[in-house]
Parts: sequence; C-alpha cells; structure tokens
Amino acid sequence: MPSIYLQTFGCQMNVADSNGLAHQAWSMGCTFTDIPESADILILNTCAIREKAEMRVYSRLGQLKALKRPDSKLLVAGCLAEKDRAIMRRKAPQVDALLGPRDYQQFKALLAEWGVPTDLPPPQTPLRMPSSEDAPGEDAPLEYAHLRSLVSITRGCEKFCTYCIVPYTRGPLESIPPEDIEAQIRREIRCGAKEITLLGQNVNSYNFGAVDFAGLLRRLGRIEGLERLTFLTSHPHDLTRDVVDALADVPAIQPRLHLPVQSGSNDVLKAMARLYTIEAYLDKVAYFRERLPGWALTTDIICGFPTETEADFQATLSLVERATFEYAFVFAFSPRSGTPAATMTPQVPQEERLRRLQAVSAAQNEQTRRFHERFIGETVSALVSGPSKKDPARMAGKTGHNITVVWPRSADAAAARSPVANLVIEQAQTWGLVGRVA
Ligand code: SAH
Ligand code: SF4
Ligand code: F3S
Repeated sequence: MPSIYLQTFGCQMNVADSNGLAHQAWSMGCTFTDIPESADILILNTCAIREKAEMRVYSRLGQLKALKRPDSKLLVAGCLAEKDRAIMRRKAPQVDALLGPRDYQQFKALLAEWGVPTDLPPPQTPLRMPSSEDAPGEDAPLEYAHLRSLVSITRGCEKFCTYCIVPYTRGPLESIPPEDIEAQIRREIRCGAKEITLLGQNVNSYNFGAVDFAGLLRRLGRIEGLERLTFLTSHPHDLTRDVVDALADVPAIQPRLHLPVQSGSNDVLKAMARLYTIEAYLDKVAYFRERLPGWALTTDIICGFPTETEADFQATLSLVERATFEYAFVFAFSPRSGTPAATMTPQVPQEERLRRLQAVSAAQNEQTRRFHERFIGETVSALVSGPSKKDPARMAGKTGHNITVVWPRSADAAAARSPVANLVIEQAQTWGLVGRVA
C-alpha cells in the first residue's frame, strides 16, 4: 500500500484542505508516515501569505530533495503552488506536480497516475491526521485531535485588499450549500467533535440562496449535540448587527470574535482598500461590546504598510493602547509580487517595519496580560488539547475565549481522559493561564 508523507503550512483553511486530501488518499488505500525517507508520495501543502511563509516552504523543499527516495513522488499543493506555478520548476526541479487550492478534484487522478490502484478498499487503520508545519508527527495526540473540527463554509475571496495574495491563489468567493455544511457538522459530531470552527476568508460574505451568515449561524446552532461553535475570519465591512445579534442568540457560539482591523489610520485603510474607516470599525465594536460584554475581541494588524507615516503608525499604536483588543496577531508588511501594494510608494524600510511591529506587539502584550489577569480566581471550562508540549506533567487546553490554559495532570484516569476540564485559575501570563482542576 502506498504511503504518504503530508506536511501542512499556513492557515486553518490549509489544514482543512489537508484533511480533505488525506481523506481522499486514505479512501484509495494509502497509509501515512511521518518519515519522509520511507514515503512513496510526499506532499507539502503550502502558504504564500508573507515572504517568511514562502521561505519556510522552499527550505523544506531543499531538505526533502536530500531526504526523499529517488523513486518517490513530490507534490506541492496550496497557495504557493498556485502563486509560483511558473517559477517552481526552476526553483525546485525536484517537484513532480503542482496543485493549487482550486485543483484538488484532480488529486485522485494524480495518485492514480502515480500508480496508486483505484480499486483498493480503505485501510483497516483509521485515518491519521496530517502533520502540522513545525513538528511533523507531534500534533495533538489522536485521542484529542478529533475534539476540534474545521468546516469550510466558503472558498476563495474577492475582496482584493491591496496587500493580499489570497484572491489570486484561492480565486473568487463561493458559498457551500447549508445542507452540505450541516451534513459535515453532523458527521464530525458523530466522530466525537466538541468544537466546530467554520472557515472562510470572510465568513460574513457567506450567501447561499436566501441564507446569509447570520441565518447560517442560527440554523447550525440548532444541530443536536453541537457543543461549541466558532468561526474565522470576519471582514469588518461585512459584519452586520444581524450577525452580532446571532452571536448573542446562539448559545453554542464561543465568546470570541476575530475582526482584523489591519490599521488604525484611515489613510492606510484606504490604501489597503479595506472598505471601512476606523470610525465605522469602532462603531461596530461598540455594538458588539454592548451586546456581548466579556467576549474576547481579537485582531490582525499590519505594520509598515507602504505610505504608512509615523502619525499613521501612532494611530494604530494608540488604538491598541486604548485596550481595543484582547489579543492581536501583528505582522510586518511583506510585499507580495502581483499585488498593488508591492509597487506602492513610498515603501517603509524593513527595519522601520520591524520597529513598529515591536512597539505594537509590546503594547498589545500588556493588554493581553491584563485581560488574562481578570480570570484569576475564576472557574473556567477548557477543551483539552492533550499533554502540554513544554511540560508533559501538565495538561493543556483552550478556554471559550481561546486562551491557552495548563494545569497539573490528574492521577485519576477517568478525569485525565475527559475532553473538557473545569479549572480554577491561579496565575495569568501573556501567553495564557495556569490553573488547577476545580
Ligand atoms: N481573510 C482574512 C485573513 C487573511 S490572511 C482577513 O481578511 O482578515 C491573515 C492576515 O495576514 C491578514 O489579516 C493580514 O493581517 C496578514 N497579511 C496578509 N497579507 C499580508 C502581507 N502581504 N504582509 C503582511 N501581512 C499580511
Ligand atoms: Fe486577503 Fe482581504 Fe480577502 Fe482577507 S479579505 S483574504 S485580507 S483579500
Ligand atoms: Fe497562506 Fe493561503 Fe492560508 S496564502 S494563509 S495558506 S489562504
């Protein structure tokens, strides 16, 4: 039976796609391995969002060139396969095939071309989840991995923010029929999923027939056995009051909203083509805070976007310092060739982008730590992820606000196996919380 090595880079959309590829390969009888040397087929599912993401892929391709057997095949899938289609052959001649995110219906045919028989039954062993980027083979242990499940509700994006490669790699927006989404969620719940994350580059643009995103949330909220529901990502322009009302009305939805602001300056937001002003963004946040007090608002910020002045940067910094967000992913602008921002002038020098990034990150870390401190003495429930990677004597999990929490492993076997832990919080750090079983 052919064996596959599959490594995933990038966002949760790629993780979900890798799950789909793994499932197709498994249904054809393939098995999986963490050892590239012993694989018949090697697959990298790649990301092109920033230069660093690309470099990681190219460096892994270099390593695999030395590791792979001469008779094995190497497939590059994902966003970089699409973006670098024309230059991949030159940069990485060891690659045997490329499949972009819109090409996965050709995956089975490619496996067949590479000699995988099309008439084998699925193997007796259950499907093993593919490896994560940094540590192949060290994902959440199997007994916990199935507790969380990713379900795509849209494909593609047509917002064309001027810095972003995604609309070029993933193509135009498509919404998946609500019946299909519902059916997948029911399957995942039958397999033990406790938390479902709905995925889309902009879930708020979901639209299928008469069902919009708010309608979809209300409909999915009625699925029996669905304990925790959450979603990524919301574009502020398309987040309506109706969606916020749905968040308040559907009990399974977890108390967090990821709403990337990108910048605190209207001039920069305009240059990014983000389609909202900072005032409009803050109006939406005010409604969200009023309807959903105590929820976590998280965001993405880009520092050093072309044309960003010191005053623009200060506007972003002050937005963060005013405790607008509980957590932020902060990035330095990375020019993506083919996007309008790559050739905008003036570009901000790289050292300056990093200086701004560090200032914004430090300010946000302070806010995040304060947010975490509010939980000291409280009892929280966490969905278990498995033994902590840093300290196997501790268990790790995520709270409803998506905060990492660790606690001493219980000696009681039944308690140790429970997917959900109730914890009293004793310490707060920037990275998360430390507790004990309540
Ligand atoms: N669809 C989502 C997220 C897409 S990528 C959204 O609209 O929010 C995730 C984050 O990467 C973005 O929110 C942005 O902050 C960052 N990002 C995207 N392209 C980038 C680039 N060229 N340079 C730096 N950061 C970028
Ligand atoms: Fe990229 Fe903008 Fe689409 Fe998000 S909404 S994927 S940032 S183009
Ligand atoms: Fe990367 Fe593509 Fe996701 S570029 S962030 S894998 S959509």
